[in-house]
Amino acid sequence: MTPLDKQQPGPSDLLEDAIRISRLTGQLLKDRLLTDFSVDHKGELDLVTEMDRAAQDLIRKEVHLKYPHHGILAEEDLDIKGSQGFWWIVDPLDGTTNYAHRFPVFSISIAVAHEQDVLCGVVYNPVSEELFSAVRGQGASLNALPIRVSSTQQLDDSLLGTGFPYNIRHTAETNLDHFSNFALRTQGIRRCGSAALDLCFVASGRLDGFWELNLQPWDIAAGALIIREAGGVTTDFEGRELKMDGSKVLASNGRIHREMVEVLKTSV
Ligand code: IPD
Ligand code: CA
Ligand code: CA
Repeated sequence: MTPLDKQQPGPSDLLEDAIRISRLTGQLLKDRLLTDFSVDHKGELDLVTEMDRAAQDLIRKEVHLKYPHHGILAEEDLDIKGSQGFWWIVDPLDGTTNYAHRFPVFSISIAVAHEQDVLCGVVYNPVSEELFSAVRGQGASLNALPIRVSSTQQLDDSLLGTGFPYNIRHTAETNLDHFSNFALRTQGIRRCGSAALDLCFVASGRLDGFWELNLQPWDIAAGALIIREAGGVTTDFEGRELKMDGSKVLASNGRIHREMVEVLKTSV
């Protein structure tokens, strides 16, 4: 930001609003979890519920009430260009398949960026009431207490997370090859169903690493910042700078990163 932007909100103000909005949205999603909401298909396996859209509408309304000139990029066909360089990158419900099956693991992911710089991010799990957050350069926290990645030194001792693409029935890149390879090299692999939460589990040391193909900016913008602020590393599968498009995401505590890159290079 330039000195001309004195009246622009700072990262901490933005974080405060992102937290407030994610809590409001979380309450809505939690209240409606066991009710009779409608479920549609975006693709063969790719579901969207009435609640994905209701959550996104609530977030859009709240962001624009306070910041009418900010852009919003959100999963359910929402791409509003702002006029001040700020944009909110939003997954209103990360874990839709879980939600549609009433499996209570899902989150709201909100990051706020200025141009290409992600300034702050929040991932909120309303069921466990765990709120992960970070401001760039100021560390990461879980329910306001600082978090750090794990100190696991080698893949052999690690617990990893991953996910599978919605087009798994129609692509050669199923991730099943990597899954088999890692299954033989680690203490275990978890598939929680919310990539944003997976990233936060790496940030808080519950997982030592995570990899997934075909993610989107709204899945990773907040979680990747939270991992980096917790001392972890995010790259693509080759260990190069992570692309915000999320096509190949590798995240870890840093210590096992090189070993993960090596495993991702091998095919079954
Ligand atoms: C999905 C979840 C899931 C991951 C998928 C994502 P959605 O997001 O993050 O864990 O494996 O690739 O698309 O559709 O529930 O918002
Ligand atoms: Ca998602
Ligand atoms: Ca979603």
